[in-house]
Amino acid sequence: MIDEQAQGLLDELTRVCTKIANGKNWEKDRFFELTREGSYPAHITGLAESFGMMLVKVETREFQLEQKLEELQKSYMRTSTMLDGMVLSLASTLEHRDPYTAGHGRRVTELSCAIAGQMGFDSDRMEGLRIAALLHDIGKIAVPLEILSKPGPISEHEFNLIKTHSQTGHDILASIDFPWPVAQFVLQHHRRIDGSGYPVTNDAGEIPLEARILGVADVVEAMSSHRPYRPALGIDRALEELTAAKGIAFDSEVTDICIRLFRTGEFSF
Ligand SMILES: [Fe+2]
Repeated sequence: MIDEQAQGLLDELTRVCTKIANGKNWEKDRFFELTREGSYPAHITGLAESFGMMLVKVETREFQLEQKLEELQKSYMRTSTMLDGMVLSLASTLEHRDPYTAGHGRRVTELSCAIAGQMGFDSDRMEGLRIAALLHDIGKIAVPLEILSKPGPISEHEFNLIKTHSQTGHDILASIDFPWPVAQFVLQHHRRIDGSGYPVTNDAGEIPLEARILGVADVVEAMSSHRPYRPALGIDRALEELTAAKGIAFDSEVTDICIRLFRTGEFSF
């Protein structure tokens, strides 16, 4: 049997423990008060001391976890900045080599992300698309410069060489362990929903949405810009061609969003 005072103190301890468990840590002063030697029965101060020690250990662990979390956040930011720098360096390698396409990767990236924004991509998915867009033509690094910058029409053989760039881009990126299938997006950015385009594969699988967005953004940017073999066709002509191929070569929803972005003035190069 415990006396009335001890029962009251036990009830008090229970109340304080419950408050602390609910995050009201300021109650701990009352806790430590109960540990004051000589003021309360020994079994009450003993119990309060044990709870007090438990609380101190939990708080220490919490502090250590907060520090670890802060270190992890800093490390994540460093890694993220480094990844971004490496992606931009890779992309600029191509643009330095082939000045005719300077700005192409950036503009395709901006348009792709604008389309994806309308489609409700979250920030993580957007990041995968952004990286794929910046690097979508990286495989052109293996295509002879005289073909890329040839001022006249290109032969079938030369075009076949250019077409290898999506597979080469895939192969370059496949060894990088991105959190998104960036290499697949790059591989498929010239595949079309009607089975045309390249590379021709036996895989009848769906073209990832990211690759379908890249395909549209790539074509619109390329047509509206100057190329060594032809002057810029302009955005109106590019959108006309896109409309004609809507639902045939290009994803209908992606096409509609792209056209709307330009027509409403929400996006421009
Ligand atoms: Fe391409």
